[in-house]
Amino acid sequence: MNLRGTHFLSAKQLNAATLRQIFATADAMRPYATPQKITEVLCGAILGNLFFEPSTRTRISFGAAFNRLGGAVRETAGTEMTSIKKGESLIDTARVVSTYVDAIAMRHSQPGAVEEFARAATVPVINAGDGTNEHPTQAVLDVYTLQKKLGKLDGRTIAMVGDLKFGRTVHSLAYLLTLFHDIKFIFIAPPALQMPKEVETYIKRADRGHKILRTEKLLGGDGIDNADVIYMTRMQEERFASAREFAKYRGKYSLNRKIVEQHCKKSVAIMHPLPRDSRPQSNELDVSLDNNPNLLIFDQVANGLAVRMALFALILGIDKKISRHNRRVEWFVSKNSHKQHA
Ligand code: NCD
Repeated sequence: MNLRGTHFLSAKQLNAATLRQIFATADAMRPYATPQKITEVLCGAILGNLFFEPSTRTRISFGAAFNRLGGAVRETAGTEMTSIKKGESLIDTARVVSTYVDAIAMRHSQPGAVEEFARAATVPVINAGDGTNEHPTQAVLDVYTLQKKLGKLDGRTIAMVGDLKFGRTVHSLAYLLTLFHDIKFIFIAPPALQMPKEVETYIKRADRGHKILRTEKLLGGDGIDNADVIYMTRMQEERFASAREFAKYRGKYSLNRKIVEQHCKKSVAIMHPLPRDSRPQSNELDVSLDNNPNLLIFDQVANGLAVRMALFALILGIDKKISRHNRRVEWFVSKNSHKQHA
């Protein structure tokens, strides 16, 4: 599968060969992401970064990835300051913005909205999260991070914990993991927030020996005890029908150092797409884990930049041209930035 000129809307679009190609390209991006080198390969190109829902890292990461390739970024954040507020349709916005830019990254509160937008756009569109549906670039960076940490992913036990119904990152992650073999998925959530049936059906249809276990309990035989990976998620406060509904589930799962030390494999990898809800009533991933060497949350963040650069490079067809346009960095760069991420 060739990514050049395509929209990237769902993790289901990728096959194993394409995923390997993205990972190899992300590896090649690391010197430019950290940055040790500068490339100007996208000099003259413009990204439209359209974020109609709150975001810190995804928005900055898409923009920084494009900038690190030498391109410029034009962006909107929220709907308040855009013509959507004046009743403009997604289709008109797509046509208009496509006239100005060479690629678009878009986040929207409605499932399917990015796809609808992409149908009308004339430049490649990347889904940066569409409501409760998917967040495919997060899944690519999650699997990239996991592979760096664990090597082989076949046969691993992966526990996803929290709001699996409204959390889009776990939907895309589950879809992408079906490309591997014999994965044991443990979906830990209250029954009302369990993984949607369609995700389970997709995993079964992949027919690669995967197993699925659903449970409400964090601990005990079927919980995180034997997991190789624990992927915590935030209760998606903004998606609940009411504050009362959210309050029922808030704080239901809270992972901390004591639990991990007492119950989990020593090597268990701990992930979270961030932001973690650190308010005391929620606190799904406690700071007592911050010094655990297997806590991968900041590796996920750092790898996200290289992975998004790789996606832009492949979609815009310049992945082989980067080294022809490079120079050494001459400004001060953070002492930590050269450290390998996982
Ligand atoms: C996630 C999202 O927006 O879906 N954040 C992210 O992009 N890394 C997770 C969340 O908001 O809980």
